[in-house]
Amino acid sequence: MGVSEVREKYLRFFKTSPRNHKEISPTPLVLKNDPTTLFTSSGMQPLVPYLLGEPHPSGSKRLANSQPSIRLQDIEEVGDNRHTTFFEMLGNWSLGDYFKKEQLSWFYEFLTKELGLARDKLWVSVFEGNNQVPKDEESFKIWKKLGIPDKRIFFYDAKKNWWSMTGTPEEMQVGHIGGPDSEVFYDFGEWRKIHENSPFKDRGCHPNCDCGRFLEIGNSVFIQYKKVAENKLEELPQKNVDFGGGLERFVAATKDDPDIFFGDSFWPIIEVVQDISAVKFIEAQQSYRIVADHIKAATFLIVNGVLPSNKQQGYVLRRLIRRAVVKMKNIRVPEAYMISTDSDYEGSIYGDIVDAVFTIYCDLYFQNSNINDVIKIIEEEAIRFYSTLERGGKELGKVAPFDLYQTYGLPLETIEELYKERGLKFARKEIEKEIERHKELSRSTSKGMFKGGLVDHSPEVVRLHTATHLLLASLRKVLGDHVVQKGQNVTKDRARFDFPNPEKLTEEQLKKVEDMINDVVKKDLPVSFSIMSKDEAEKTGAIHAFNEKYSDTVKVYTIGPTSPKLRGALPFSNEFCGGPHVSHTGEIGHVRIKKQEKIGTGLIRIYAALEI
Ligand code: SER
Repeated sequence: MGVSEVREKYLRFFKTSPRNHKEISPTPLVLKNDPTTLFTSSGMQPLVPYLLGEPHPSGSKRLANSQPSIRLQDIEEVGDNRHTTFFEMLGNWSLGDYFKKEQLSWFYEFLTKELGLARDKLWVSVFEGNNQVPKDEESFKIWKKLGIPDKRIFFYDAKKNWWSMTGTPEEMQVGHIGGPDSEVFYDFGEWRKIHENSPFKDRGCHPNCDCGRFLEIGNSVFIQYKKVAENKLEELPQKNVDFGGGLERFVAATKDDPDIFFGDSFWPIIEVVQDISAVKFIEAQQSYRIVADHIKAATFLIVNGVLPSNKQQGYVLRRLIRRAVVKMKNIRVPEAYMISTDSDYEGSIYGDIVDAVFTIYCDLYFQNSNINDVIKIIEEEAIRFYSTLERGGKELGKVAPFDLYQTYGLPLETIEELYKERGLKFARKEIEKEIERHKELSRSTSKGMFKGGLVDHSPEVVRLHTATHLLLASLRKVLGDHVVQKGQNVTKDRARFDFPNPEKLTEEQLKKVEDMINDVVKKDLPVSFSIMSKDEAEKTGAIHAFNEKYSDTVKVYTIGPTSPKLRGALPFSNEFCGGPHVSHTGEIGHVRIKKQEKIGTGLIRIYAALEI
């Protein structure tokens, strides 16, 4: 069976007599005005007031729906055969109406009659009790009566058989509601090995052992408690049922195949990627699953109004897209597909995937969404990140991880991912410390820079100051745009200039830089400045000192003609600066690079002087 068929069967089953549930619309994935959660992660989330006793606007005490959900706590697990960030949760709720007997019998009937799952493949778990809540003998008896033998019913503690939005009774936030639960697992067969890291290894294989033999497919939570104080649960005035089951997992069970990615809500995505990649699914399943899950989740987020950014939901979206790009590169999606846009002749991999996602869900979730907008947003983020990854990836193993971050701009989580893939150790804590140290350093350097780093405004200092602008512009042209000013100090005798670069320059590079500076000196180019708003200045592409803070109105010094006759050609140098400077580069005289030093990880210092 496929997702549409299972979803439809489920909703029909719960809507018809004697169950008589009212189908409610799913909640948007991103809840506006809810600062407590980033995403809707279960169907019960928006129903809390009704589970507490408020009448539901539909007028019914029996509700059901299919809820698109995102759970980030499983993000590290994505890549195995069953974990995803995005999934659809089939849910049914009793708001103080029916309870354990009806819930467990109906769910069992749905699984065995509607989905046709074999009875002997179903195992269940119930709550073993704790100091505040008794053992759930009632559910145990119901399951037995339904025909599940003792040996397939397991009791577990609150870590496994208690549900609230914030965890076990001890972990639960005061004010939150929850209760014991009973889970149903599908058994894919005994041949699977128990994972050697399983905390249950010495108990042998059983539903919660995580070896892959069992897949949890549904969870009936009996929401009957509210946490009112530390160590204090109080019974709610009404006894509720909150059932949630993973749609994609139901599909896997109907196929008797433990890999949910073979279901029709994933396989078409994997196929479009496999069609053009050099590495096939069978050789790199983890990467394929991550790509399929992450771009699907990204599509849903964008359709729900999220845009890539550095904050909250936008940051999650950005991470999902970037991680998918890393994985696509691993499975060798040809570069042409990764850097072209959907409107290009070659087409883009992002367009192909989003197209597949839309085909799977269009009828239900995307009728009002424009596929081209979604593709464009993903492409823009992915293509930009791809070039960063290309540059940084080449240096992996050659330069320190800190340099990958600082110089090549790879996000820490990407570096961690790349290290993990290659089985290398990644000392995240140490790198974070180093980043902090560098921030401190540039903060204190910046303080010095407010004075411009000049000891005085003598003619020698002014000439060397202009020479330093030429030095920075030349370094950027020879080494790349990662070169920025991290520190500057100019005296009568020499200019000292610090900038990020993984290693010292080669002799050849140094010579190139020096020649370039002197070439501009020879050309006697004009040096001018204009005063403009910071925003305007930024638009001109003027560079500024790293981490420096500027007021709203700034001065931008330009070396080289700025005349409109240039037809958009860029001046040699364009920099935020307070001055002063010479008026023509010929006044500087011959510049000589005297010395270079590596003064920290990825930080180079150059000394330059004037040759009289
Ligand atoms: N709230 C429970 C869960 O998310 C069941 O719906 O698992």
